[in-house]
Amino acid sequence: MNLRLPDAAALAEAAAALRAGQLVVFPTETVYGLGADATSDRAVAAIYAAKGRPSFNPLIVHVPTLEVVARLGVLTLAAEELAVAFWPGPLTLVLNKQPKSGLSELASAGLPSVALRIPAHPVAQALLVAAGVPVAAPSANKSGRLSPTTPKHVADQFGSEVAMILTGGKTTVGVESTVLDLTEDVPVLLRHGGITREEIEALIGPVALVEKPNVLKSPGLLPKHYAPSIPLRMNSFTAGPDEAYLAFGPDTFAGRGAKACLNLSAEGDLTEAAANLFAMLHELDRAEHTAIVVAPVPEIGLGLAINDRLRRAAAL
Ligand code: TXA
Ligand code: MG
Repeated sequence: MNLRLPDAAALAEAAAALRAGQLVVFPTETVYGLGADATSDRAVAAIYAAKGRPSFNPLIVHVPTLEVVARLGVLTLAAEELAVAFWPGPLTLVLNKQPKSGLSELASAGLPSVALRIPAHPVAQALLVAAGVPVAAPSANKSGRLSPTTPKHVADQFGSEVAMILTGGKTTVGVESTVLDLTEDVPVLLRHGGITREEIEALIGPVALVEKPNVLKSPGLLPKHYAPSIPLRMNSFTAGPDEAYLAFGPDTFAGRGAKACLNLSAEGDLTEAAANLFAMLHELDRAEHTAIVVAPVPEIGLGLAINDRLRRAAAL
């Protein structure tokens, strides 16, 4: 088992593993997180593969200081006030992404915003400082299982997919961070968590709740999704001369004659395809194309999440 006490050597190794694109589980004060370099599409794709999630939800990006927060997201007055009061701590703020954030498109599932958090747990702090890269981390559990609050919970679920599991005792908060969206005129509470609505409102005034009641039960069900601004068609090997084609796999005839063509993965590798998905959709989403046509992607492993996102975009 790759459980390690967070001594200096383990922290240095974990930081190096993160920089090399590997997964590291680390403690935070809320729950254990399954971390990867948030600037690497490949590393973030590995999170989804390890969790076995059949959909791409935007992930929380963990950073050590407010200075790094401001480099990745656009701080507002309310954000700064909340940061001073509650960070480091169990609060996540959704901010507009800085144009040159360098963050993976997959980390925020193609959205123009990013969820940021400065965790308080000393091991998380030490790891983030040592890593020197922002760390995307959902709770370190397989899809559909409970969020882990002890290193043993994690070790029971993850083996060789992760380079290391840093231990840090039982988490003190025990529930996930509160997620507050500050990109709208009125702040929206997207998920209840470690900081209460009352605590937030005492500081910045009224916040709105997400209307869909099921959002609180399944935090992945967001009202907002990235979708291209032009129509999208799935499961096709052919595209017209005004259309853009998004291929998958080695078939060089697929999409022939299309106005533009990109390949999610010429080798048919689903992790590579997931890593490329949002960046390539963004690139093909141009007014000069009448539609984006996407090749069939197998409904296995990460293909499930890729097809889920494509179906939502196609349905609009
Ligand atoms: O306590 C926690 O927050 C834990 C620990 C590991 O830090 N992390 C966690 O991450 O719960 P995750 O990825 O499972 O939760 C992400 C939450 C989801 O509710 C997601 O919908 C929301 O944050 N979220 C992330 N990015 C967003 C964005 N750009 N816009 C709106 N919501 C976003
Ligand atoms: Mg979770």
